Amino acid sequence: MTDGGVVGGLAHGADADDDVPVDPLALAARWLPAPGSGVTPTMTLSTIGLDGYPAARTVLMSLFDGRRVHFHTDSRSRKAAEIAAVPRATVTLVWPELARQLVVTGDVERVTDREARDAYTARSRYLQVLAWLNDDDLAAVEADHRRTRWAAFDADCPDLDPPTTWAGYAITPVRMVFWRGAADAPSNRLRYDRTDAGWTVARAAG
Ligand SMILES: Cc1cc2nc3c(=O)[nH]c(=O)nc-3n(C[C@H](O)[C@H](O)[C@H](O)COP(=O)(O)O)c2cc1C
Repeated sequence: MTDGGVVGGLAHGADADDDVPVDPLALAARWLPAPGSGVTPTMTLSTIGLDGYPAARTVLMSLFDGRRVHFHTDSRSRKAAEIAAVPRATVTLVWPELARQLVVTGDVERVTDREARDAYTARSRYLQVLAWLNDDDLAAVEADHRRTRWAAFDADCPDLDPPTTWAGYAITPVRMVFWRGAADAPSNRLRYDRTDAGWTVARAAG
């Protein structure tokens, strides 16, 4: 699937496959953007729907702080209601060009107000405005009206604080699965499970 070597500053290929760190959080820190890098990869956030079916959508990974995966959303959203009912989630990140996938499952909690504010400040102007205007009422009106409302809000509010609906969450992993592909060998996974005694790790077929 990929040649060995370095892509985007990350080593991959046969040598990386032999590396089985004891601590998956340290391995995740090598795979995920460093705090403060401004890089927010997309990830599929899966929750347990209120109807019992899985629910999934794309969100930005705001931060990996070395221990938890952070994301942000609107407190009125469906996912927020689902997490309030069952505070568990899985996020899936994929880097096709690196032949990598990381799946993190864990317990979800709200971040502190300070953490949520810091994440809002780090978002682009577009995403800051979006957090204010992205509601079902505006979504229901015609496109021209949505654009007019956006332009007026953008002009009227040069400096924005997070809206009260800005909600930050962090996932504390109980399971982490690192998938690695190779052009000249089968793909494989490292599956880590958190136990009372620490992390267990097992190799599995990709
Ligand atoms: C590339 C991309 C990035 C997105 N990032 C976020 C995000 O960080 N937070 C968020 O709440 N929604 C984000 N969305 C929108 C969600 O996918 C989703 O449509 C929205 O949050 C409503 O989801 P829900 O009804 O399941 O709660 C993003 C969508 C895309 C396509």
